[in-house]
Amino acid sequence: METKLSDYKETEAASRKKVRLTFLPLNVTVEGEEGKSILELALEHDIPLDHNCGGNCACTTCHVIVKQGMENLTEAEDNEDDMLDKAEGVTLSSRLGCQSHVYGDVVVEIPGR
Ligand code: FES
Repeated sequence: METKLSDYKETEAASRKKVRLTFLPLNVTVEGEEGKSILELALEHDIPLDHNCGGNCACTTCHVIVKQGMENLTEAEDNEDDMLDKAEGVTLSSRLGCQSHVYGDVVVEIPGR
């Protein structure tokens, strides 16, 4: 039997784990595919997370503070850390939503909301 690329892609998508991401103080939990960024998951579910540079690590408007599940995010690279240094209200748990990819359940706060 011939396996089509579209069949393979569907199988692959179906086998991807689902993750849950909670946004505070909205207290809204969304579910999505693992590996997407916090920003991607927010936009898919109409969560108002600003992203002035379009998710290119060139602003700080997607700044979030991770309350739970930091271990379920990809590690910050140098350019993210450099940009975060310019963010208002930055904490040790701060991340840029467009640069943090989710591989498990995570709770974040959108500062200033
Ligand atoms: S959207 Fe600009 S740094 Fe994330």
